[in-house]
Amino acid sequence: MKKTILITGGAGFIGSHVVRLFVNKYPDYKIVNLDALTYAGNLENLKDIDRKPNYVFEKGDINDTDFVNKLFRKYKFDGVIHLAAESHVDRSIADPGAFINTNIIGTVNLLNAARLLWKDDFSDKRFYHISTDEVYGSLGNTGFFTENTAYDPRSPYSASKASSDHLVRAYFHTYKLPSVISNCSNNYGPNQFPEKLIPLAINNIINNKPIPIYGKGENVRDWLYVIDHAAAIDLVFHEGKSGETYNIGGNNEWRNIDLIKKLCETADAKLSRKPGTSAKLITFVKDRAGHDMRYAIDSSKIQNELGWKPSLDFEEGLEKTLDWYLQNKDWMKRITDGSYQKYYEEQYQKR
Ligand code: NAD
Ligand code: DAU
Repeated sequence: MKKTILITGGAGFIGSHVVRLFVNKYPDYKIVNLDALTYAGNLENLKDIDRKPNYVFEKGDINDTDFVNKLFRKYKFDGVIHLAAESHVDRSIADPGAFINTNIIGTVNLLNAARLLWKDDFSDKRFYHISTDEVYGSLGNTGFFTENTAYDPRSPYSASKASSDHLVRAYFHTYKLPSVISNCSNNYGPNQFPEKLIPLAINNIINNKPIPIYGKGENVRDWLYVIDHAAAIDLVFHEGKSGETYNIGGNNEWRNIDLIKKLCETADAKLSRKPGTSAKLITFVKDRAGHDMRYAIDSSKIQNELGWKPSLDFEEGLEKTLDWYLQNKDWMKRITDGSYQKYYEEQYQKR
């Protein structure tokens, strides 16, 4: 094997697409997927590649320092792509603790293990930290987040991600650990857990349940198809410059209400429903506390320096996403089990 790469959080939404891409595209890399299999981790996401000879799964918690150090000694990783995190803003508002542990302490455990293994001889090594545009805070009606926008995180989730970004940069500056960071906008696509807006709305449309829209639905997000994010991660891992940050985004801003109306329209056509049927499910509910108004990414750096650009337009991406969920109702059924029901009731009944 040419390289052994650790991918953390590979059983989650984005991580599973990154693992699949690397396992298929780089047969001469050994890909080790480390995941704690929290509620968000699902090995079913990887069943098409889990018997490939260059793929290994390790169940474990990045908060467990001894386990992490042993894993680094066992595999002698050449590179790390770190996606494992608590990722849902609403859960961070309800209970920040796990976000502080996994997103901050867990990241530090990985940084320390990499330093220990590589013993400050960093030739051909790489620590790649996957982050979010939410670290930059909230925009008004105009402007974009660039790599130089000052950090202004406003939820426990984004504050924990901002903290981990700072620590990764600190290890680069202090120890010269060859790290790189990317900050991406909202992803959508197959295998996303139905706590996030698009899969939650799809699941509710299919089941004729109310689609909860926070506040007036005027908040804006910049949506990117997950496969395009995975392609950007491949590029940054191989060609990004150590110490640099790359913003990744879809240049595809939608107000939540407009996005959901578009989704309902597309779903009506696919489900042979009378136009307007699914939109009747839209229900305005109490707003998210501290709800960031608008995110929008300026991705010109990765486009100009590394030649990345999104491959799909939103209509195409949304259709593919809906098709996937319609063809994988069993996947949805299996993950919306007892614990999902409890989460859903706690989140939405009080709104
Ligand atoms: P996800 O919640 O779908 O998956 C997270 C994965 O991490 C799960 O498989 C979970 O089991 C694993 N995990 C959680 N805690 C762990 C721990 N302590 N030890 C080991 N594994 C653990 O998340 P996602 O949406 O795929 O996001 C992946 C990464 O990308 C995160 O770092 C997130 O901050 C970042 N990100 C996400 C988006 C997005 O729109 N989803 C956008 C930009 C950046
Ligand atoms: O911007 C990148 C971030 O995008 C990632 O770092 C996060 O991990 C990811 O969860 C996502 O955060 P958001 O909070 O933007 O995503 P979410 O899907 O939770 O919400 C999208 C928008 O929809 C947001 O304005 C809140 C709103 N919303 C969400 C839910 C779950 C609703 O109106 N109703 C809902 O039920």
